Parts: sequence; C-alpha cells; structure tokens
Amino acid sequence: MTTAPDSANNEFVDFWNEILVPKFINYKHILVDGLTQHSEAIFPTLSVKEGDTVLDVGCGFGDTAIKLARLVGPSGRVLGVDCCDAFMEFGIKEASEEGLENISFVNGDVLFMPFEPEYDFVFSRFGTMFFSNPVAAMRNIRKAMKPGATLTHIVWRTPADNPWLNLPKEIVLQFLPPPGEDAQTCGPGPFSMANQEMVTGMMKSAGYEEIRFERVDAPVLVGRTVEDAINFQLALGPAGEVFREAGAEAEEKRAQIEVALAAAIGDQTQHSDGIVMDSSSWVISAVNPT
Ligand SMILES: C[S@@+](CC[C@H](N)C(=O)[O-])C[C@H]1O[C@@H](n2cnc3c(N)ncnc32)[C@H](O)[C@@H]1O
Repeated sequence: MTTAPDSANNEFVDFWNEILVPKFINYKHILVDGLTQHSEAIFPTLSVKEGDTVLDVGCGFGDTAIKLARLVGPSGRVLGVDCCDAFMEFGIKEASEEGLENISFVNGDVLFMPFEPEYDFVFSRFGTMFFSNPVAAMRNIRKAMKPGATLTHIVWRTPADNPWLNLPKEIVLQFLPPPGEDAQTCGPGPFSMANQEMVTGMMKSAGYEEIRFERVDAPVLVGRTVEDAINFQLALGPAGEVFREAGAEAEEKRAQIEVALAAAIGDQTQHSDGIVMDSSSWVISAVNPT
C-alpha cells in the first residue's frame, strides 16, 4: 500500500480514521454483507471488460475492488483508493491470499489525489457521499477517467426508503436530542446524494454527461441477532450519531433505548443468517465526455 500526497487537513478523514474505523471493523459482517446486495444486483451489468483499468473510490474493506480485479483479469488492473489504511488491510490480505497480482490499494483523500486520465471505469459503492466538497471531489475523480470512460457509483436513496437506518434513528430521537450544528461527522452523510435533481446538477457541474439513475431495492442484514442489531445501530449510522453526540445522557438512557429498539427490530423479518430490513439505493452512471 502506498500513500498519496494530500494537501489539506480534512476533519472528515480524521473522523473516519479515529472514530469510525474501529466501529466499522466491529460490524464488518453487517456492512459488507448488507452493502453487497446493492452491488451484486448491478455487477453483471457494469461496463467493465477484460483488460480494463478500474478505480474503486472509497473502497473500504476492498471486496468490490477484488471482484473488479477478477472481472478485468490479469491483463487489466484495479486500484482501490480509501482514506483509511485499516480498512484496506483487509483487501490487501484477501487479494494476496487469492494470488491476485492485478490489484493495488492506495491511501488518499479522493479530493486531492493527483489523478491522471488512465482509467476505463470508475466504481464506488457508498463511497461518494462523504466528501467535504462533493463537486470538487467528483471533478477530481473525472481527472482519473479516460475520455469516454464511465463512472458508476451507488448511493443511498432517501431516509424514508431506508428504514434500516431511519427507523432506529427515529426511535433514538424519542429519547435524545438531535445532533447539534457542531456535531462531529464523517461528511455530508449517507443521504446526501438521495436527491436526483441535486446530484444531476452536481455531476454536470463536475463535467459529467449522460447521467443516469437506476433504483435498487434490497433487504439488508442489520444484525445476526436482535442484540447485534441494537449494538450496530447505537454504534454507527444516523441512530449511532444521535447516540454518540448525546454523550452521558445517552448512556443514562441506554437501557430504555435498547428496550424500544428491541421491540422494533424484533418485529423485522428473520432469516437464517439474521435480521433483515428494507433498503434502497441509486446506481448512478455517468460518462466523462470525449
Ligand atoms: C460507507 S463506506 C463504503 C466502503 C466500501 N466502498 C463498501 O461498500 O463497503 C465509505 C468509505 O469511503 C471512505 N472515504 C470517505 N471519505 C473519503 C475521502 N475523502 N477519500 C477517500 N476515501 C474516503 C471511507 O474511509 C469508507 O471506507
């Protein structure tokens, strides 16, 4: 793994590394399994072929970068980019165990990476919603794309379409105040690209053309057990943010909140591998003009 130069102190990147990394690693089984439903649905349709060069933006644990490396084969190449080494260590280990030689990972803030136009395809699963300046980041990503190359990124649709994140938040808000203006965050947040019109404008400003949206609805795993799901919700996502920001008050009310969450989560569908809830994403594709 190498480290790309980055030209700014980014409080969001610090937040990912300092606060979210240990929590994401704790709940990797939920995050990777859950998010996979949204990429599996569209992987067979991606405009990626053998021999392509591919960039995976905000690649996290690296599972999609590895799938892309298998797709492009030994004559192609994949670069996974993320601002957290601790996530990419998982991808590096998995790629090495599988003997994949066409994949590498680099640590950097996508906003400031010195990209060259060398990629046929850029992918991101839930990695584009957290940039401090989304238009500047999307413009910088475009610099990595060859003329005519496609970017496909997956983002969450609205909170109402994502009860797996929204219902627990509403429950926690029955007990605790909403996060204040100065709340510490990981960036604009999971629903920051839910609005089609706004994202289309943003991507046009960043220079993309042929911007298309496809809706994907899929059940996501929220925990192996009710207890696992409650712990996950109070650690991460919008409910986790309310809980974290409320500090001592949250800990005082933890028992009551857990009872309320257990009632709501216990009502959800149970599968053999755990509890699932509804979720919904946009698969957004756009082209770098020739
Ligand atoms: C919700 S996670 C998605 C991870 C992975 N793509 C997946 O689907 O499992 C968002 C990822 O974006 C990364 N990220 C956030 N802001 C970033 C930035 N400015 N530059 C590079 N990576 C960033 C985070 O470290 C995190 O791994």
